[in-house]
Amino acid sequence: MLLKIDNIEFAYSSVPVLNDISLDLEGPEFVSILGPNGVGKSTLIHCINKILSPTSGAVFIDGKDVKDVKIKELAKQVGYVPYSSNDAFPLTVVDTVLMGRHPHSRWGSLDEDLNIVYDTLKTLGISHLAMRPFNEISAGQHQKVMLARGLVQDSKILLLDEPTSNLDIRHQLSITKLLKNLSVERQILVVMISHDINIASKFADEIILMHQGRIFDVGPPEKVITEDNLRKVYGVASSVIFDEGRPHVILKDALPMEEGDEPRSPAMAEARKAKAAGTTGYKNVPLEKGEI
Ligand SMILES: Nc1ncnc2c1ncn2[C@@H]1O[C@H](COP(=O)(O)OP(=O)(O)O)[C@@H](O)[C@H]1O
Ligand SMILES: [Mg+2]
Repeated sequence: MLLKIDNIEFAYSSVPVLNDISLDLEGPEFVSILGPNGVGKSTLIHCINKILSPTSGAVFIDGKDVKDVKIKELAKQVGYVPYSSNDAFPLTVVDTVLMGRHPHSRWGSLDEDLNIVYDTLKTLGISHLAMRPFNEISAGQHQKVMLARGLVQDSKILLLDEPTSNLDIRHQLSITKLLKNLSVERQILVVMISHDINIASKFADEIILMHQGRIFDVGPPEKVITEDNLRKVYGVASSVIFDEGRPHVILKDALPMEEGDEPRSPAMAEARKAKAAGTTGYKNVPLEKGEI
């Protein structure tokens, strides 16, 4: 088993975020994690690459508990493209991407590493940015540079947190297709968090749908992307049609948030509890009339 998640739980302070997550991903494939804001998608990825440690349960890569794997060793096995933030290092693009080679670096490997960096920049169509300062490029270019940094890590598992959120539709398509092809050509496991259900459905071998800090459904797109699941998990009415054998979602309406609805995330559950107690949930400040 390439990646095994064995019954993990995670809480920030005392607020539970992940419950009861178990997952077996056997080998090379392209997997997309979907789910509304705040359900724990990024937290789950952080438990795989040891940015966070699960409160209970364990994550195994090739049968080895990641708890016992040194960070530099883990970075050879697990590549990571973080959620695109405004943080930018005062480095050139080429130096930023070169950081991704760090787990493989050894005395005398710089030329080889630079060749890998330039090849990857070319593949992503951004080699012209190589010498530009990383903090002086557009959000979409920024995202491609971070993707390049993840790709040069040359790992057998690649985790990506919304890697196409700042890209236009053409680039969303081409990057997602590139990730799918990468899983086949390099025989690696690619796990991508996404909000674009249709693009995920078009390319993913498997979809993990998260809800309330749990895995709500998992399987091939045609099993997971259903009108019923989208209503329960996202609170939307939709019509799911099929295109080239893959489900394609046509969004109809955002359903009203009924009091009786299940909360869609642990955070929402907390907010509801606070509301029921007549507070805002923030330092027990009383709830103003009409505030949600
Ligand atoms: N550093 C943090 N400290 C406390 N709570 C956090 C922190 N990061 C995320 N959370 C909370 O954990 C929950 C899951 O967050 P996250 O994993 O980022 O969700 P997603 O990626 O699905 O949007 C949310 O309710 C969020 O507010
Ligand atoms: Mg997230």
